[in-house]
Amino acid sequence: MKNSEQSLSHPEKFKVDTSVMLEALDLSKRYEDGVLALDRLNLQVRSGQIFAMLGANGAGKTTTINLFLNYIDPTGGEARVNGITTHKNPLQAKSNLSYVSENVTLYPNFTALQNMDFFARIAGKNGLSYADYAEILNRVGLQTEAHHKKLKDFSKGMRQKCGIAIAIIKDAPAVLLDEPTAGLDPQAGREFIDLLSRLREEGKAVLMSTHDIFRAREIADEIGIMSAGRLVLQAGKDELAGEDLEKLYMEYMSGSKQN
Ligand SMILES: Nc1ncnc2c1ncn2[C@@H]1O[C@H](COP(=O)(O)OP(=O)(O)OP(=O)(O)O)[C@@H](O)[C@H]1O
Ligand SMILES: [Mg+2]
Repeated sequence: MKNSEQSLSHPEKFKVDTSVMLEALDLSKRYEDGVLALDRLNLQVRSGQIFAMLGANGAGKTTTINLFLNYIDPTGGEARVNGITTHKNPLQAKSNLSYVSENVTLYPNFTALQNMDFFARIAGKNGLSYADYAEILNRVGLQTEAHHKKLKDFSKGMRQKCGIAIAIIKDAPAVLLDEPTAGLDPQAGREFIDLLSRLREEGKAVLMSTHDIFRAREIADEIGIMSAGRLVLQAGKDELAGEDLEKLYMEYMSGSKQN
């Protein structure tokens, strides 16, 4: 899976490249109980690119996302967002990030519009009206009758849409998503994928984890397969064109293929 194009996405270590928005450099995490959840991960996501991480339960995907968010500190290496090392300058790094999660970021007792207003203000976007929020909520496919509903009464897909709307408002150059399509019905999953491609068109760098090989193949520019804390395969969309990704995934999981 190595070719000249791939070497482009692996420039010399620690050299700052402005089009690289998310970068892991020998990023490692050993939890307090001794589990080595992430073992020298190196990856890059450029502006206008979607990178999908696949891998079995416990492979280290959420750990990777949490390190980019600086929810946890690395025990080796570093995660960078727009060139900023997350554990050294967490606030500055976070100002470049949107994290779409159904649970963590949204307020259950606020309506969709109130959540939008709250997060717009936190992001320093003070000039927006409720009509602007409604326009964005419509754009992500949240029906008008849900705009005044409290988030706690939302379905998972509705919360995901609200999360994406907030990411659009924040307009951060990097977007992180942990299993965004898990539990969505086929139509909501389809709409979500369309929204992701819109974020890409806007030049966002998107790093997502997913167990959905087919959606990953459809949407991602780069696919990484993780196993036991290591990135065992990284390949671009073009490189995977004639490949059976599911078969490849199974081969890496069973250990019959190794990088
Ligand atoms: N807070 C923690 N303390 C100790 N070990 C942890 C902690 N969080 C995760 N781990 C361990 O780190 C490893 C990687 O977990 P992680 O949650 O990153 O996997 P994942 O790839 O997101 O899995 P899944 O597909 O199930 O979401 C696992 O062995 C897990 O048990
Ligand atoms: Mg996870």
